[in-house]
Amino acid sequence: MTAAPDPLSIRRLYGRAQGHPLRANAQKLIDELLPRLAVPEEGPLSAETLFGDARPLAFEVGFGKGEHLGFQAALRPDWGFIGAEPYLNGVAGLLAEVEERGLSNVRVHRGDALDVLERLPDASLSTLYLLHPDPWPKARHTKRRFVNAGPLKLVAAKLKPGGEFRVATDHVGYMRHTLAVMQSQPQFEWTAETPDDWERIPADWPDTRFAEKARALGHDVWRLIYRRA
Ligand SMILES: C[S@@+](CC[C@H](N)C(=O)[O-])C[C@H]1O[C@@H](n2cnc3c(N)ncnc32)[C@H](O)[C@@H]1O
Repeated sequence: MTAAPDPLSIRRLYGRAQGHPLRANAQKLIDELLPRLAVPEEGPLSAETLFGDARPLAFEVGFGKGEHLGFQAALRPDWGFIGAEPYLNGVAGLLAEVEERGLSNVRVHRGDALDVLERLPDASLSTLYLLHPDPWPKARHTKRRFVNAGPLKLVAAKLKPGGEFRVATDHVGYMRHTLAVMQSQPQFEWTAETPDDWERIPADWPDTRFAEKARALGHDVWRLIYRRA
């Protein structure tokens, strides 16, 4: 018997799981700090199990080097932030942010975001960030994008009513894909009301490394905020 196809069709990596060898201080963070902040590998998760109380939760999918997650966690010290990223050098980057900013409200999963997302209680997230997701630019690969029915069903289930799903991309194909796919998702409403909203940069949304690179090349960066209906 063949296994049923995985409805969460993004469980394949576009990029690398590791880049250059880690420097000594980054390796130390992986060896010593990561075990203290790692999301447990199994079992149900909640604000209580992760942070010891019923605080609001936010989640970042594919946090890269962690600069955005570090910023958000410093901005809202009474929230709990969960980040998932398979790229080891990126995880070390987030751990450096945690250490430098003295954060105590961050938990980290080195791996697929969906493996953590599916273990959270329904209606438990206040915000979910998806910033410059892997573009999977070839037409035959678009089903591997995070913005697709399977992952979005999970995002809709895990966000609280009124919770925000924030998406950024510098890939015009991904932007158009997101607008089209999200339009067919009645659980989400796009918050932009005027062209100005589309271009306005919210103060609590700093550029990520990928956004900076895109702007340096003269590319546009699109930011979309959807609200869970
Ligand atoms: C283009 S990079 C953007 C990184 C960062 N968000 C930024 O804006 O600088 C996309 C990131 O998503 C991560 N990623 C890919 N698939 C993932 C998955 N299933 N779960 C979590 N992260 C994933 C990649 O490892 C990569 O670091």
